[in-house]
Amino acid sequence: MAQYPTMLLLALFFVVAIPLAHSTITTELTNLVELRVAGVLSCSATGNPVDTTSQGIAGVNVVLVCNGGQTELGQAITNITGAYEVTLHLVDGLSFDTSTCFTTVRLPAVGSCTLLPPTGILQAPITIISLTQSVVGVVGVFVGGLFSVVSL
Ligand SMILES: *[C@@H]1O[C@H](CO)[C@@H](O)[C@H](O)[C@H]1NC(C)=O
Repeated sequence: MAQYPTMLLLALFFVVAIPLAHSTITTELTNLVELRVAGVLSCSATGNPVDTTSQGIAGVNVVLVCNGGQTELGQAITNITGAYEVTLHLVDGLSFDTSTCFTTVRLPAVGSCTLLPPTGILQAPITIISLTQSVVGVVGVFVGGLFSVVSL
């Protein structure tokens, strides 16, 4: 009987990890129930780390947008190391083309970093790390890539 909870857990959370090459970003994802995008915002002219001494920027709002900025999926605040993780739980499952999605930071960003441009938007593509099929649907884990500055 001691093994019953373990078996139940295995049954509930039995997952099939689908390894994906980084080149397959333009995946049309169907029935996503959870989406996670993690990345880092650094204090530099681009928001990307320049070297190992680059500091993160804390307290900045990072917004995940898709469809050319038409659809805002979620947001997160960077922590003390500049790390952010946008997590979405999608009740009905969602289908969309993740190649249209970016993490964005509207400038000027709050915080003490004076290296970032004063205006524009930092925009980073998202790259898929894993897709996991759970009993309720697909969990997609992404990493936010390098930022570039786009004008308004
Ligand atoms: C900042 O967030 C990242 C990603 O969520 C996490 O790994 C890290 O431990 C956090 N750091 C602090 C100091 O909270």
